[in-house]
Amino acid sequence: MQTNEKDAQGGRDIRVAVIPVAGKGTRWKPITRSVPKELLPVWRRTSASYAFEEAVTAGFDEIIFVISPDKLGVFEHFLRFDASDLSAHFIDQSWADLHERVKIRACIQEQQLGLGHAILCAEQDVNGRPFAVLLPDEVLMQNGLKTLVSKTPAVLLMEVPFEQRANYGIVKCEKLPSGDLRIDDLVEKPAPELAPSSYAITGRYTFTPEIFDHLRNLPPGHHGEIQLTDAMKTYTQIHSITGVLFDGTRHDVGQPMGLLTASLDFALRDPQYKDAVRDYVKKLIAAQ
Ligand code: UTP
Repeated sequence: MQTNEKDAQGGRDIRVAVIPVAGKGTRWKPITRSVPKELLPVWRRTSASYAFEEAVTAGFDEIIFVISPDKLGVFEHFLRFDASDLSAHFIDQSWADLHERVKIRACIQEQQLGLGHAILCAEQDVNGRPFAVLLPDEVLMQNGLKTLVSKTPAVLLMEVPFEQRANYGIVKCEKLPSGDLRIDDLVEKPAPELAPSSYAITGRYTFTPEIFDHLRNLPPGHHGEIQLTDAMKTYTQIHSITGVLFDGTRHDVGQPMGLLTASLDFALRDPQYKDAVRDYVKKLIAAQ
């Protein structure tokens, strides 16, 4: 059943963001045996700091990190974060009072049962409020979260080529007059010819707290994990989710190629280093 609930949520005050960082990071082994992937550097900052900055500059003033018992170091990194650690990528004003403006807390996911389970672990801290989710594995070069806040519940989508559809959650959707999409269903990693559209879900979402009702008691899905997309499938039948198209650049830093492209992208925008980096890349290519 579709309802107009979405319209009722639009513009609702949404200030709390959940950043799950409890994953095992198997694609980054052997590094992740001793270093959490969230602390790997993307150019001059930790990879997870970009999602944090995106949330802060989108106006969120409470950030909940979902951590595993062996990843306290990731939380400590953000507790010690100060204004001088911000990258100036999304930040265009003085944030000297960062810790007065932004409350940071952590909740523990004891067992890594999947992303959906990680979000469920934050239920008590979210405490009945609408909230955002940012997956820090995805580094966006433009603030995608900002485009979702007035449309809660909403998810950021990107168009993917035919052969890549099997790597993503793909939505079945209708185009709205506004240019956004109304999401009718989601399919996790479909065979390309069975995909209902070319629009893939990215790691930026906003939800009303009712998503927790759809996460509780959810059986394991793809990969034997409790999947957020499975909960979104039933949630969207009651609380129509808006899909917002992202036409910026996204780097998947959960794997090596994405970490390299993200670092290069930031390096080529860094006033101090961009000329040297460009010259070096040109030299490398010329030597091929
Ligand atoms: P991924 O699916 O990328 O899993 O999680 P992962 O464990 O981090 O990495 P790989 O696939 O093993 O290499 C997407 C996001 O969800 C979090 C991760 O930390 C990441 O931010 N996550 C995943 C959790 O917090 N808990 C989980 O049980 C699973």
